[in-house]
Amino acid sequence: MIPIAQPLIGQEEKEAVIAVLDSGMLAQGPKVEEFEKAFAALCGVRHAVATSSGTTALHLALLAHNIGPGDEVITSPFTFIASANAILFVGARPVFVDIDESSYNIDPSLIEARITPRTKALMPVHLFGNPCEMEAIMAIAARHGLIVIEDAAQAHGASIQGRKVGSFGTGCFSFYPTKNMTTAEGGMVTTDDDQVAEKARLLRNHGMKKRYYHDFLGYNFRMTDLQAALGLAQLAKLEVFNEKRIANARYLTEHLRDVVITPQVRDGYRHVFHQYTIRVKENRDLMVEQLREQGIGTGIYYPLPVHQQPVYQELGYTDCLPVAEAMSREVLSLPVHPALSQMDLERIVEVVSRLRSLV
Ligand SMILES: Cc1ncc(COP(=O)(O)O)c(C=O)c1O
Repeated sequence: MIPIAQPLIGQEEKEAVIAVLDSGMLAQGPKVEEFEKAFAALCGVRHAVATSSGTTALHLALLAHNIGPGDEVITSPFTFIASANAILFVGARPVFVDIDESSYNIDPSLIEARITPRTKALMPVHLFGNPCEMEAIMAIAARHGLIVIEDAAQAHGASIQGRKVGSFGTGCFSFYPTKNMTTAEGGMVTTDDDQVAEKARLLRNHGMKKRYYHDFLGYNFRMTDLQAALGLAQLAKLEVFNEKRIANARYLTEHLRDVVITPQVRDGYRHVFHQYTIRVKENRDLMVEQLREQGIGTGIYYPLPVHQQPVYQELGYTDCLPVAEAMSREVLSLPVHPALSQMDLERIVEVVSRLRSLV
C-alpha cells in the first residue's frame, strides 16, 4: 500500500528525543525556547509561541487578540473543523465565506459582503499548503480595521513572493504527524506584535507572570521539550521535505493534467503540497474504492464543509456555499509525501490514468 501520509523520523529525531529524556527536563524548557526561535526565523517574524497543538495555537491566537463573545470572525467553510471550532471556543461566531475553486481557499472577492459591525477578524486558511491571496486579504483587513489570523496548519514554509505564510497576520501552525513537519502533537503561534506574543505566552501557562500568581484566566497549552526536540530535528529537514513534495507534485501534474483536474499554483506562490488534491467530477467515491483496491491510499479533505457538519447545523447555520459544497463531492487527495519513490509516483500515475478511463 502506498500510504497517503508517512512521517519521516530519522536517527537525528531519535537522538534528540533521547537526549531530552536523559536531561530530566521533560516539560516546557530550553528546547521549546530554541524551537520557537528557529521557527520564528523560518517565518521571518519576531516571535513564535509553541503550543500543545494546532487547535490550541488557533485558540491562543484568538484569545491573545481579545476576540470573544459578540465578535464575528470570517473564515473558510472548506477546512479541518478546528479552524472554526477555535472561534467558537472563545465565544465568537464563525462567518463562512465561500472558496475559489482554483485554489480551494477563501475567495477574497466575497469577503466584504459578509463584513458587519461585529466583524473583528479574518481567518484565511492556507489549505493543502497553498497560500491564500494575502495581498487582497490584507487590503480588505486594512480597509476595515480587522485583525488577520492565518491558519497555516498545513503550510509550513509556503510563501508569496518569498514572504512566508504566518508573517502576514498572526500565524497558527500544526505539527500533527501527517503535516509537512511533526512534533507528534504540537502547534505554534507566529507574530511580529510584541503584545500579542506576550499575551499568548501568559495565556498558554495559566495567566502566570510571577510563579503562582495568576493575572487572568489562562490555560495549559504548553509544548514539551520532548516535542520541541523532535520539532527542531524536523525543522532542519523541512526544506528538503518541501522540495521533495513540490517535485512529486510537479511529476503528478505533468502526467495527470490531461486525465483529471490537477492543482493550480499562482505565479510567485510557493505551494508546499501538504496535500496533492485532484478533482473527479463523477464517481469520485468509486475511484477512491478502486484506488484502495490497487494499493494506493487516498484522502478526502473534506467530505463535508464545516457549515454542514451536524455540530454547526445544530447551531443554526443554514448557509448555501455552492463551491465548497461541490468541492466536498469532487476532491480526492493522492500521496505526495517525501517518502514516495519514483516507482510509487509512476504507479500512482498509471493506476489513476487507467481507472479514469473506466469510471
Ligand atoms: C487547517 C487546519 N487547521 C487546524 C488544524 C488543527 O491542528 P491540530 O490537529 O494540531 O490540533 C489542522 C490539523 O489537523 C488543520 O489541518
